[in-house]
Amino acid sequence: MAQPRLLSGIQPTGNLHLGNYLGAIRNWVNLQAGHDCYLFMADLHAVTVPHDPALLAHNVRKVAATYIACGIDPQVSTIFVQSHLPAHSELAWLFNCITPLNWLERMIQFKEKAVKQGENVSVGLQNYPVLQAADILLYEPDFVPVGEDQKQHLELTRDIAHRFNHLFGEKSPKGSDQPLLKVPEPLIQKAGARVMSLSDGSKKMSKSDPSELSRIDLTDSPELLQKKIKKCRTDPQRGLEFDNPDRPECHNLLTLYMLLSGQAKDTVAADCADLGWGQFKPLLTETLIEHLSPIRVQYEALMADTDYLDGVLRQGRDRANTVASLTLERVKNAMGFMKPL
Ligand code: TYM
Repeated sequence: MAQPRLLSGIQPTGNLHLGNYLGAIRNWVNLQAGHDCYLFMADLHAVTVPHDPALLAHNVRKVAATYIACGIDPQVSTIFVQSHLPAHSELAWLFNCITPLNWLERMIQFKEKAVKQGENVSVGLQNYPVLQAADILLYEPDFVPVGEDQKQHLELTRDIAHRFNHLFGEKSPKGSDQPLLKVPEPLIQKAGARVMSLSDGSKKMSKSDPSELSRIDLTDSPELLQKKIKKCRTDPQRGLEFDNPDRPECHNLLTLYMLLSGQAKDTVAADCADLGWGQFKPLLTETLIEHLSPIRVQYEALMADTDYLDGVLRQGRDRANTVASLTLERVKNAMGFMKPL
C-alpha cells in the first residue's frame, strides 16, 4: 500500500523562525515516517516582492540545511528547489487562464503584503496563490501541512482543482475513478499554527518584521535567545495562564514552552499557574536553548558542506520531476494541447 503523500514548502527569504518550525517543519518531521513527503524551497514565490539576487541561491541552501537539521531525512523525504522544475511555472500559467481574477482579489496575504509594497505591487504578488496551487496539485498530495496563515491559499487551491476538474473532465483519462486533479486537504495543527511576535502578542511572528527582537530564529545563539526572551513583552500580572484573550503574550509564551518541552497543556498550566515572569523566563530560555542548539550545530555543519547539500537537491529534483511531469502532461492533454513533435 502506498503511503499517503504530503507536500509543503517555505519561501527562502531570510532565516527561518520558530513560527516556521512549530507551524510547519516540526509537523513534517513528525509525519515523515508514515508519509511520502515532498518538501521544497519556494524560490519563485520569494521573487514576488523585491529581492537581492546576491542572496537568493544562498537562502535556498539555508532553508534546505534547516529542513535537514530539524530532522527531515533526505533519504526518506524528497527535498527540492521549486525553480528547478519548470513544471511549476508552466502549470501556474495554465491555472492563470482558468482562475477568475476576483478570487485573487480576496486574498488576505496579498492585501497585507501589497500595503507594504506601496505602488510597486507586482502582478506576481497578486498571482502568487495560483503558483501555490500549481506547486501543490502537481504532486497530488493527500495533505498539505502548513500554519494557519496559509489556510486561505489552500482553500483557493481546492477551488482551482474543482474548477479544473469541472471544466476539463471529472474523470481521469486513464479511466480510473480518480478526478483529473486530486483535491488535497490542509493539515493545520491546533497548537503552534500561529506563533505570535515576541514584541506584540496580537501580531504573527514574521520574517518581514523589521525588529529582530520580535522573533526567534532557529539558528540564534544561546546568548541571543537569552537576550530575546529577557526583552520580550509580557504583562504586569503574576501567575501564568493559557487562553486568556486579554493576555495574548502569556498564551503565546506558554504555548512555546509547552511545545518545545514536549509537555501536556494541563501539566504546563498547573506548573506555571503560580509563577511570575522572573521565574518563567529562565525556564523558557533554557528550554529554547536545549531544543534549538542541536539544530544550530547541525545546520552549521550542513552549510559548510555545499557538495552534500547540492547532491540532496539534485536527487530531490529528479524524484520530484518523475511525479510533476506526469501531472503536467495529463493536464495539457485534458486541455487539448498538441503533443510536442
Ligand atoms: P512561508 O514561507 O511564509 O511560511 C512557511 C510555513 O511556515 C508557516 N508559518 C507560521 N506558522 C505558525 N506561526 C507563524 N508565525 C508562522 N509564520 C509562518 C506558514 O504557515 C507555512 O506553513 N506561500 C507559502 C509557501 C508555499 C507553499 C506552497 C506552502 C509556496 N507554495 C505550497 C505549502 C504548499 C509561504 O509563503 O509560506
